[in-house]
Amino acid sequence: MAETATGPAIDPRHFRDVLGCYPTGVCVVTSELEGARHGFVVGSFSSISLVPPIVGFFPDKASTSWPRIAGTGRFCVNVLGDGQRELCQRFASRIEDKFDGLVHSYTPGGLPLIDGAVAWIECRIASVSEIGDHLLVVGMVEALDRHDDGLPLLFFRGGYHSLRCLDEPS
Ligand SMILES: Cc1cc2nc3c(=O)[nH]c(=O)nc-3n(C[C@H](O)[C@H](O)[C@H](O)COP(=O)(O)O)c2cc1C
Repeated sequence: MAETATGPAIDPRHFRDVLGCYPTGVCVVTSELEGARHGFVVGSFSSISLVPPIVGFFPDKASTSWPRIAGTGRFCVNVLGDGQRELCQRFASRIEDKFDGLVHSYTPGGLPLIDGAVAWIECRIASVSEIGDHLLVVGMVEALDRHDDGLPLLFFRGGYHSLRCLDEPS
């Protein structure tokens, strides 16, 4: 395999195809400052630490929403439900006002909360580091909650899916 200065030359299309076999949930990261609401879709959300409670995700350096959210110092992760595919497409687009006409509420800390999300996690930005063409954002969790009856939207091999449970629910 050919080598580059940064490692083996992996075809980006092949990278996406292979990594697309790892299913993810779909989240909208939101924030608001002085009435301006921002949000974008991430599949890279993850739990990092239990004590203290820390989560993270990876925004593309090309994201236009992330710098605006970063400027607020805080963010809310909204875990989308399996009926929220259109909402996902809206927040994965680059339309001017992604909240236009959208009914939503607020977390206790005043961040935009997407109605129908199966869970939400409100965070303060702890660190942002550069990794390749993405950033790693780490957030300290300040509040969170879930809706017991919601099933998450899943992304797998370039398409949207819903969950089929193989166990008794806990
Ligand atoms: C299922 C799915 C997962 C995505 N995951 C990420 C991600 O983890 N990080 C990211 O930066 N963009 C991700 N995107 C793409 C962004 O949502 C999209 O580029 C962004 O919304 C562009 O708008 P912006 O310029 O307002 O940020 C994902 C899109 C989809 C549909």
